[in-house]
Amino acid sequence: VSIRQIHRTGYHFQPPKNWINDPNAPMYYNGIYHFFYQYNPKGAVWGNIVWAHSVSKDMINWEALEPALYPSQHFDINGCWSGSATVLPSNKPIILYTGLDPKDRQIQNYAVPANLSDPYLRKWIKPGNNPVVDPEQGVNASAFRDPTTAWWLNGHWRMLVGSKRSHRGVAYLYRSRDFIYWTKAKHPLHSAPHTGMWECPDFYPVLLSGKEGLDLSVVGKHVKHVLKVSLDVTRYDYYTVGTYLSDKDRYVPDNTSVDGWAGLRYDYGNFYASKTFFDPAKKRRILWGWVNESDTTEDDVKKGWAGLQAIPRTVWLDPNQRQLMQWPIEELETLRGKTVKWSHRQLKTGEHIEVKGITAAQADVDVIFHIPSLDKAEPFDHSWTDAQELCARKGSKVKGEVGPFGLLTLASKNLEEYTPVFFRVFQASKKHVVLLCSDARSSSLKDGLYKPSFAGFVDVDLADKKLSLRTLIDHSVVESFGAGGKTCITSRVYPTLAVLDNAHLYAFNHGTETINVENLNAWSMRKPRMNT
Ligand code: FRU
Repeated sequence: VSIRQIHRTGYHFQPPKNWINDPNAPMYYNGIYHFFYQYNPKGAVWGNIVWAHSVSKDMINWEALEPALYPSQHFDINGCWSGSATVLPSNKPIILYTGLDPKDRQIQNYAVPANLSDPYLRKWIKPGNNPVVDPEQGVNASAFRDPTTAWWLNGHWRMLVGSKRSHRGVAYLYRSRDFIYWTKAKHPLHSAPHTGMWECPDFYPVLLSGKEGLDLSVVGKHVKHVLKVSLDVTRYDYYTVGTYLSDKDRYVPDNTSVDGWAGLRYDYGNFYASKTFFDPAKKRRILWGWVNESDTTEDDVKKGWAGLQAIPRTVWLDPNQRQLMQWPIEELETLRGKTVKWSHRQLKTGEHIEVKGITAAQADVDVIFHIPSLDKAEPFDHSWTDAQELCARKGSKVKGEVGPFGLLTLASKNLEEYTPVFFRVFQASKKHVVLLCSDARSSSLKDGLYKPSFAGFVDVDLADKKLSLRTLIDHSVVESFGAGGKTCITSRVYPTLAVLDNAHLYAFNHGTETINVENLNAWSMRKPRMNT
């Protein structure tokens, strides 16, 4: 039986079928990128979780292998949940992951490759001295999971396990000399009140300036550290930028970063349980994130799959040192095919102009907008702290002065359906406030879908009067990078008309002020080899 797979992606990471969630243990080893992920081999809903395994030379074309870890021992018989890889200095990879024991207690285990000379590391062994970390007294055994990659400092390995103590989110710190015998530090690396369970913590150094990534064990005055946690209450990934006091083994966020749901997010849309790794081949830090579904479970069962991974992103510290920057890995550009280029086109008030000649349902678009005048920007009201709510109030159809302007992605011919990705510029007392929206409300005529008006503020200086937008469109996912990667938003959308060859792409402006498209490059995207 063949179902018309109108919403299956063309170039995003997906297995041929079934449920997927968190990225696990991404790593580079002897010339190969390894990627593991939470996978249900039996269906399109969460359950029966194993570690599926794929390998790649470019993180774009993937070959699927047999699952690397699946429940088989007393220490993981009820589940092999998320975890991370560390490549030891002896060039031996080792995985730490959460196992669920017969009482459903969450415990931490390790696994090692059965045969280091197999370039694909197909088989993994779970030694008999597992588990290596048990929830001790005072630790909540049903909220104790997702060990990080380990870092080496002053004679000890260190790693984190996510947890909560009543409503306080906690990143417990463990130390070990040999990676087998771990002891819990007296103080967690960090914790914060009223944030709930910290799933999938991630902790790493970033250079104060430049895009180069760092291996996990780097400390010093030339770096800051980033702590990311996935908050299961809101289902978003939040991070802070701060200082790792390595002598005390404590992490302190900068006063420009806040813990919890008022904090910075990697992505203001569907993006969860993410994890970074250091790629020594290209000296960069790469972020993987799970893009979950916005349709119903019934729809997932019907289409036979649920979930995908975002395009891997290079991450580095913004020169302002207050936030991260993110950009799709350069390898993605090898999929670019047919192209359309515009330069110096005016978008007058009320106009939408079609970007013709590419496959609009499977495309990469990169635009630089120039704003001739900011004088008339709408006043910003300081009570507008919630970007998503502001986007709901001031959607793409609500006329403004400077904006809304941007792209109408996955649009049907007569605009019955479209997912607008756009900017709006406001004037606050001393500066401009820029809002980026990816508004799914008009994305589909279908009911029963989650269609949020995702949005984030863009901390940008408009001195050059320019705003850039890169958007990756792939049938049911629209992944956007505002202002060179300062604010990112991923939307899952399920159009009924704007599918395959009936999808269109437009540039639009609903502000009173004319906007110039200084440059627009759009490409049809080819299909890579994807786990076939
Ligand atoms: C996050 C998460 C992790 C857990 C895994 C189970 O999405 O809940 O905390 O290890 O998924 O699949």
